[in-house]
Amino acid sequence: MAHNFFDLTGKTAIVTGTSRGLGQYMGRALARAGADLVITSRDADSLGEFQAEIEALGQKATPLELDVRDETSIEAFARACGKVDILVNNAGCNVRKPAVEISWDDWNTVLDTNLRGTFFVSQAIAKHCMIPNASGRIINIGSVTCVAGYAGLGPYCASRGGVKQLTMSLADDWGPHGITVNCLAPGWFKTAQNQVLYENEEWVEYLCDRIPLKRPGQPNDLDGSVVFLASDASAYVTGQTLLVDGGISTGATKATVD
Ligand SMILES: NC(=O)c1ccc[n+]([C@@H]2O[C@H](COP(=O)([O-])OP(=O)(O)OC[C@H]3O[C@@H](n4cnc5c(N)ncnc54)[C@H](OP(=O)(O)O)[C@@H]3O)[C@@H](O)[C@H]2O)c1
Repeated sequence: MAHNFFDLTGKTAIVTGTSRGLGQYMGRALARAGADLVITSRDADSLGEFQAEIEALGQKATPLELDVRDETSIEAFARACGKVDILVNNAGCNVRKPAVEISWDDWNTVLDTNLRGTFFVSQAIAKHCMIPNASGRIINIGSVTCVAGYAGLGPYCASRGGVKQLTMSLADDWGPHGITVNCLAPGWFKTAQNQVLYENEEWVEYLCDRIPLKRPGQPNDLDGSVVFLASDASAYVTGQTLLVDGGISTGATKATVD
């Protein structure tokens, strides 16, 4: 029988930030491809429903508490994880404000969560779970803001640009240990993080107009890419950023006159 390059049977995948949103979308996709999951939140009690959903698919789901802004929490989490093949650094946050209104606290919250958290969770899992086995897949969740700037999202864009650069650096560091490190960069998906925008019909129309595929991301739009980056199909791919954004990062600016 031909080798199924996308089969994750027997693998364990951590997806951080699985209490809602994209973390749950990607967790479902990895579980459907055969992976057992470690699921996380700052409040592990919030994970019961998602745990039951993954178990109903026939896969294990181990809920663990994790605050990616807290060094002690990261260390305890990494020690509790056991065997890990795949890490998806999805936990993240955003603050939307004009640049002149961003406080030091806003800056620290976003950078500590999205960039510092991604680095130190990766470091702990590489050290405790992947380097000893000389294998692993790390998928850092970026964003279209890895490659584009948006007004009102200064700290967020800075954090995501950093995640893209960090991905290349860690790929270089840990390639010799059999670990690939890539960045999966979603475009605009409707989740709790940006709910307020999607409540405004005018804004949704404006957004869709700028996306070459003419629609926001849907829950299943990340499935193929996350499974690809977690599986044998991407064995020789590392240090890369894969944009899954309906094409909005092309610039999507009309440059002709009718
Ligand atoms: N939605 C989009 O269009 C979009 C596009 C590109 C990239 N992204 C990125 O994709 C990721 C998921 O986005 P989303 O829209 O699903 O966001 P969301 O609905 O706000 O969910 C964020 C998740 O991150 C977790 N989290 C936040 N701060 C944390 C911390 N300090 N420690 C541990 N976990 C923490 C939350 O868990 P608890 O609150 O339960 O702890 C939650 O599960 C984020 O990194 C986001 O920046 C989103």
